[in-house]
Amino acid sequence: MDDLLLNDSHPLPAIGFGLYKVDPEVTEDVIVAGVEAGYRLVDGAEFYHNEPQVGAGLRRVDRGQLTVTSKFWGDDEMSRDAVMRSFDATEKALGTNVDVYMIHWPRAKRDQYVDAWRGLIELRDAGRVRTIGVSNFTEEHLRRIIDETGVVPAINQVESHPWLPQHELRAFHDANDIITQAWSPLGRGRLLADPTIGQIADRLGVSPAQVIIRWHLQLGGALIPKSTNPERLRENLDVYGFDLTDADMAAIARLETGERTGTHPDDRD
Ligand code: A2P
Repeated sequence: MDDLLLNDSHPLPAIGFGLYKVDPEVTEDVIVAGVEAGYRLVDGAEFYHNEPQVGAGLRRVDRGQLTVTSKFWGDDEMSRDAVMRSFDATEKALGTNVDVYMIHWPRAKRDQYVDAWRGLIELRDAGRVRTIGVSNFTEEHLRRIIDETGVVPAINQVESHPWLPQHELRAFHDANDIITQAWSPLGRGRLLADPTIGQIADRLGVSPAQVIIRWHLQLGGALIPKSTNPERLRENLDVYGFDLTDADMAAIARLETGERTGTHPDDRD
């Protein structure tokens, strides 16, 4: 699997596996299955309520080979102090360090995300975390934290799939050396039945999921396709033996509807 280069000079595995809504009862085994399938990035978060089980899984694998992500939720309070408390709790629950730490939502209505971002900068400067990023930030939120702190996040993890390619946001990311990391990259699985995707998959002799994953990679982004099935986890990494043509990319571009499978960044507070 390829790595992308972050603006802090660290590599980021292009494909990771996500732990959103993964039942705590199966989380430990999913971690082991994911690592056995070849993944090198685990995308977790405080909000997923399975960090102790993620920690148990990490103790059964070669932790040193993995990039472990977590995210600050900030439901009660978005501040530098709240970031420190959450980070401590996450490290304790995981029983290991965090490599990449993100703000999960900007919670723009409460306007406290800049203070939270200062907390993440402090963690990075103290050497407690390698890479800092954000999630679900719009261009406006990104501009604000960059203007007020001078520190550009390495990653913005946002919903993106062929219905919601996020071309404008990706262009802003590219101009500012921010990696786009897509969540729900398969549209929660709903895009797998799309006839255009199916035709391309049939022609190339691959699966619809592999076509969509390849589309993300050819846009230059990272992604975290979710699967709890060991076979599909493997399939989603087996995407380096074929290329989508310009015509395929153009056909997939025509699928854009703007439809979301999750919440809009401005709608959560
Ligand atoms: P499962 O966990 O049973 O494999 P997204 O990453 O966009 O959120 O999509 C996740 C959904 O897509 C899950 O329902 C997952 O189901 C399904 N999925 C993931 N990879 C594949 C695949 N290779 N083939 C079919 N379905 C998949």
